[in-house]
Amino acid sequence: MEVHTTQCCILMGCLCLFYPWSQVCEWREPEELAALLDLELRENGEPQHQLLQRIRDVAKYSVKTNHPRFFNQLFAGVDYHALTGRFLTEALNTSQYTYEVAPVFVLMEDEVLSKLRSLVGWAEGDGIFCPGGTMSNMYAMNVARYRAFPEVKLKGMWSLPRLAVFTSQQSHYSVMKAAAFQGIGTENVFKVKVDDRGCMIPEDLGETIELAKSQGAVPFFVHATSGTTVQGAFDPLEPIADICDRQGLWMHVDAAWGGSVLFSKEHKHLMRGVERADSVTWNPHKMMLTGLQCSAILLKDTTHLLKHCHSADAKYLFQQDKFYDTSLDTGDKSIQCGRKVDCLKLWLMWKAVGSKGLEERVDRAFTHTRYLVEEMKRREGFELIGKVAPVIKERMMKQGTMMLGYQPQGGRVNFFRMIVISPQLSHQDMTFCLNEIERLGSDL
Ligand SMILES: Cc1ncc(COP(=O)(O)O)c(C=O)c1O
Repeated sequence: MEVHTTQCCILMGCLCLFYPWSQVCEWREPEELAALLDLELRENGEPQHQLLQRIRDVAKYSVKTNHPRFFNQLFAGVDYHALTGRFLTEALNTSQYTYEVAPVFVLMEDEVLSKLRSLVGWAEGDGIFCPGGTMSNMYAMNVARYRAFPEVKLKGMWSLPRLAVFTSQQSHYSVMKAAAFQGIGTENVFKVKVDDRGCMIPEDLGETIELAKSQGAVPFFVHATSGTTVQGAFDPLEPIADICDRQGLWMHVDAAWGGSVLFSKEHKHLMRGVERADSVTWNPHKMMLTGLQCSAILLKDTTHLLKHCHSADAKYLFQQDKFYDTSLDTGDKSIQCGRKVDCLKLWLMWKAVGSKGLEERVDRAFTHTRYLVEEMKRREGFELIGKVAPVIKERMMKQGTMMLGYQPQGGRVNFFRMIVISPQLSHQDMTFCLNEIERLGSDL
């Protein structure tokens, strides 16, 4: 049995990563795919050779997000050190809540979070890895509400006035989800205007706060973004921090993908003022390639707000009379019970390439972006209009040559959202992408 398990692991790894996939995806209609995969679960188990074929099929028909021409999402590519960390995490299969079951990872998480915080500019603070940027943003909103109204934990929303949250028109939709999930209400998320680069206009933030107050709402949380999801805009953090200071509001910076610029001497100015924030969301699984999922919520707070806000003191896990320092049982800071280990892949990758290696990755992504913009300017007639993008997308997926997302925004019609974060990318991939858009759309 042990041998079989090992074989499967090795084969799966080989199939997914070293097989020379020529296509990004093998598109099949859902009914055809379901039949091909033979998904039904049956009474009896299957022999090894059949299981291996199933593993091959899973790999074959899955999207190869590590393919250099997968530009579709804010994650892409593969870092083999991080991948080793991911395999090891799965193999060790522990939960990140107490020192007794995760001694290595409790210490490691602390170290990694502290290093991320130091890049933000904080010598101390708090934080936790959680399942994605959406959750990190929810943590920020919840802790901010707890700081403003600690009675919420005991008495719930009955004890609170109408609350108001502020964020830009182009912030991630997780702000709305958080407001709905936490009983604040999506109507109480006030959208602040952006300029033509997609950056929050601080003057409008000031005015919107006054508007909310005039409606009887109580402002408590400003959600700024460093690297918006579509346009990649960095909100001006210094003036936003000035407003938060004046108004006594919690300032959160959603740097889910943008946070990685803090590694780069050349680009970290984009987040000037981030050290003045109360909390930061940072997803190393986006621009840093750790693999899904790896997201940190970082806090400046040193008063254990995170723990006070979420702890439930479960006696079977967090006994206070344990034989070791119980402050190492960090799990009660989390809104979860069991929690996956997300620090190992980042730690191993960081150890392998160092902060300098990560800086180079960020700088390379910016270089690719500049190259792409220059190339597009050079090509005549490269402005896409109307319903062209969805048709080109359908064609690229059915031919499996690349994957690229599109969307409309504001008054703009559908346009392609090109993501260039993988260090495996070269200028040839950029050129390929533009040629391919031209080829696939030449008759439109
Ligand atoms: C700015 C921003 N914040 C938050 C998120 C959500 O992150 P996750 O997909 O890890 O929940 C995204 C995702 O793209 C994002 O772009």
